[in-house]
Amino acid sequence: MSIRVFENRLILLETAHTAYAMGVDAVGVLRHLYYGAKVARGEDFLDELDRIQDLWPNGGDRVAEEFSAAGCLRNKETSLRLRYADRTRDFRYAVEKIDVQGERLTVTLKDADYGFAVELLYTVLPEHDIIGRAARAVNLDEEAVELTRLFSMELPLPGDDYEFLNMTGHWGAEHQLCIERVSGGKKVYESVHGTTAFDAQPNWAAGRGVTETAGEVWFGALQWTGNFKVVAESVPYHYLNVTAGVSDAGFSRTLRRGEAYETPVAWLGFSREGYGGMSRLLHRFAHDCLMPAARRDEPLEVLYNSWYATEFDVVCEEQERLADKAAKAGVELFVIDDGWFGQRANDRAGLGDWYVNPEKFPQGLAHLIDHVHGLGMRFGLWIEPEMVNPDSDLFRAHPDWIYAYPRRETVTGRNQYCLNMTRPEVVDHLIEVFDRLLTEHGIDYIKWDMNRFMAEALDDGGEDGMVYVHHAQGVIRLARALRERHPEVSFEACAGGGARVNYETMSIFDQFWPSDNTDPIDRCRIQEGYSYFYPAKYMRAWVTDDPRLPFTFRARCAMCGSFGVGSNLNAMSDAELEEVRAEVALYKRIRPAVQFGELYRLRSMREGGVQIWQYVTEKLSAVISVVDHTLDPTGPVRLQGLEPDAIYRVEGPCGTRTLSGAYLMGQGVQVTGSRHLSAEVTVIEKL
Ligand code: GLA
Repeated sequence: MSIRVFENRLILLETAHTAYAMGVDAVGVLRHLYYGAKVARGEDFLDELDRIQDLWPNGGDRVAEEFSAAGCLRNKETSLRLRYADRTRDFRYAVEKIDVQGERLTVTLKDADYGFAVELLYTVLPEHDIIGRAARAVNLDEEAVELTRLFSMELPLPGDDYEFLNMTGHWGAEHQLCIERVSGGKKVYESVHGTTAFDAQPNWAAGRGVTETAGEVWFGALQWTGNFKVVAESVPYHYLNVTAGVSDAGFSRTLRRGEAYETPVAWLGFSREGYGGMSRLLHRFAHDCLMPAARRDEPLEVLYNSWYATEFDVVCEEQERLADKAAKAGVELFVIDDGWFGQRANDRAGLGDWYVNPEKFPQGLAHLIDHVHGLGMRFGLWIEPEMVNPDSDLFRAHPDWIYAYPRRETVTGRNQYCLNMTRPEVVDHLIEVFDRLLTEHGIDYIKWDMNRFMAEALDDGGEDGMVYVHHAQGVIRLARALRERHPEVSFEACAGGGARVNYETMSIFDQFWPSDNTDPIDRCRIQEGYSYFYPAKYMRAWVTDDPRLPFTFRARCAMCGSFGVGSNLNAMSDAELEEVRAEVALYKRIRPAVQFGELYRLRSMREGGVQIWQYVTEKLSAVISVVDHTLDPTGPVRLQGLEPDAIYRVEGPCGTRTLSGAYLMGQGVQVTGSRHLSAEVTVIEKL
């Protein structure tokens, strides 16, 4: 039993290694009592409940609640803001019901004076050490109630001076780790772009003195691809209150009698093994519970994408020549990026017109697709569904289909407008157009891009307070419809790089493009931040051209994720093409470990210019080391995650050796090269 209720007032959620306790106090308030390592006796918390003196509402911010609401002497960041029809702005509740159904728990908080309730929804995943949280507001009153905030989760962590982790960044510099001490006030990470952002993540972690390998760390990830807000507040009564959910910026939802509104889910976890333990736990959860099941156990192909080679200048014969060379190099999937459709000569025209450009493909796209298939590769295409250029047939036919204000000139970003995804006919049109494209062509793979954020926030249904939510729901409906109609097609999510990387997108797409920046050193930093919450398999990474750096160096940085090639193969000599072939072959050898193994970040680029990552599966492990500026980077490096008694064949900068797991983890081996700007792969096979 992973959910136990004692005396109808103490609730204990248990997973393989964690416990989570909450209890109803003498006036019916739901107190957060504990989240951490497994406890021996749940009953111990009954005693704590009986000792609680501060009773609501006078306790105010002193009270560490499971779910707090604004008003009633609460000044901290709360989970709920509402307004009843008579302008009352607080929620005075008592726990009305505790309901357990298998691994699901619902705790109903009912207002004392209004027919309004909030249901707190918990899902326990015992094997994964994960607890899901969401909230559902239900109005049974005659009068309407307006919600101006409803978050998915709230977690008070006892004590002061926590370090709080999120990401910052911008285009080309996504996922920059940001770990800051919160000793007073609050730290807010938010997106109001209409989607996930470059500059924040809907994920968080908190702890004190956490390292890569040790320390207690609490963490969460919101399964949502729209505006979000994550707040860590140091409440002066010695706890860090973490709240997360759909951003309340511009948000309002009016519930009439009988209506309900449910938040997205926030997934929570706890590890005693530092950030490394956190990442491995989340990667396992993401693989088993979130990724689309059809492809999660299939390795991702080595892809070739011609964007960096030809940009908008797509010419069929040139693409064929690229495909010929890619196939010879061992590439398994050939992708044409932007520039194949409409009048798309540059980024000022064509978005919205998803027909094959007849000048670029005089014999049709099928001609190229057949060629690619004939070479034994799959074929992929780039699209950007939610956008339209002013210079497009779609916009000329439907100027009212974009977000726009009546008396303002509409803002453009990368010369494009944002389609109004809150309008059902817009989403229906896009479903039809892309359904036709996928039905009429042998397309195996779609790279789905999104290159501007929302500016005008106007919902045609008249519910402007829900425009960002409805927009995200429109995008989700479109993506799910295309997946359902074309289960054989793989989907990659991209948004000018990594601006749509989140757990909701992960549940629909098979992979992400984390950044447009392919500089190997920059990329190591981006990939490191990315790997905190997202698995390596979801991290597409291509080697691209940069004559200043050795090809193997660039290629091996890209091997840290799902490898691809973006170089201009048509401009390469035979010797250079041979180098590409050798690196593709090397990647295929370590692919099972990289895409399906447990990740150990042995060394971070942030500390001394050396990154060493180890990927471990039972039979095969791989270590990828990247040396930036250090001349004599490391001595032997101790590996992790191996079986002490097993014997391994190790092949890499240390030569070829046969060593025990205990030796490899205790004494270690040389896994780095000694040159400046070298990157090495060590392959470790269990004998
Ligand atoms: C965005 C993407 C790139 C590429 C271009 C094409 O910037 O992130 O990978 O697809 O658009 O216009």
